[in-house]
Amino acid sequence: MPTVLVTGGAGYIGSHTLRALTRAGYEAVVYDAFLKGHPAAVADYRVVVGELSDRERLERVFAEFPIQAVLHFAAFIEAGESVQDPGKYYRNNVCGTLSLLEAMVRAGVRQCVFSSSAAVYGDPEEVPIPETAPTRPTNPYGRTKLMVGQILDDFHQAYGLRSISLRYFNAAGASPDDDLGEDHHPETHLIPILLEVALGQRDHVDILGNDYPTPDGTCIRDYIHVCDLADAHVLALQALERGAEREVYNLGNGQGFSVLQVVETARAVTGHPVPAQVAPRRPGDPLWLVAAAEKARRELGWTPRFPDLRQIIASAWEWRRRHPRGFPSEPA
Ligand code: UFG
Repeated sequence: MPTVLVTGGAGYIGSHTLRALTRAGYEAVVYDAFLKGHPAAVADYRVVVGELSDRERLERVFAEFPIQAVLHFAAFIEAGESVQDPGKYYRNNVCGTLSLLEAMVRAGVRQCVFSSSAAVYGDPEEVPIPETAPTRPTNPYGRTKLMVGQILDDFHQAYGLRSISLRYFNAAGASPDDDLGEDHHPETHLIPILLEVALGQRDHVDILGNDYPTPDGTCIRDYIHVCDLADAHVLALQALERGAEREVYNLGNGQGFSVLQVVETARAVTGHPVPAQVAPRRPGDPLWLVAAAEKARRELGWTPRFPDLRQIIASAWEWRRRHPRGFPSEPA
């Protein structure tokens, strides 16, 4: 079976996708700098420790392994932080990706699945959002994802590098079959924060703005199970193997939940009160993001297996209860 290089394989979505690749029969090599990822999440995999900007190391990886395709997850992902520290985001997410793509071209590797984001849309004109909607990101993070998409268009034209951008909406949940979950430092994502409140590790959750023009005043998101995202990567890889040239797909369930609805669901799933307090808006937060994902269903044959928000939160809760402090800091 083909060998696939997985950058950021020790991260949340990357580590879940590694398991999906293995189940589908692929060989995987992880490339991760462990700036954010967890060694324990890749303990059973071949790992090369390196940064995207490390051209020599990348070149050695392509020389050493018979890599046929790259799944590119490695990136900084906090939209709020990107507003405060844009240089960090452009350097890693854009310049780092450019060095990876150039190494691929030099090595003759011409298939790439790229982790893009709903953040490229900014505040959309229509919801659910189709892939054809205008792209007007509201923060530097979203702009980095948009720029890489444009670079991929140009690399396709110039060098025949074929690629699929997957625009994830809000990844959530944990694998019911593998000992994997969501664990960021610092944690800024809504669902893991709610679970930390349920476990008594935080007093309350901040509701980051309740004066948005939405039915209950809080932002609306489309939560998609991380295992469904993982499945979509395998399908995208198979589409590239069949000859796909350059495609973009939204990945979401097509259903929006407000922050308050997510808080309520977390209370119901955990059976804990989960106190909440209203706090100021977070700069750069789009108001309303819900996917139109029919294209992925139609063209990739993708069907989310865990579309229910309760089920998504329950899977995250199950992992978090087993690992109240998240991943150990060293390989298990
Ligand atoms: N929120 C709170 N309180 C918190 C944390 C979050 O109210 O303590 C709110 C946010 O304001 C937002 C919603 O909950 O309205 C979801 O926030 P997350 O931080 O969980 O997720 P984001 O929507 O900000 O961002 C995530 C990923 C990005 C990705 C984006 C695409 O982190 O990488 O989804 O929608 F680009």
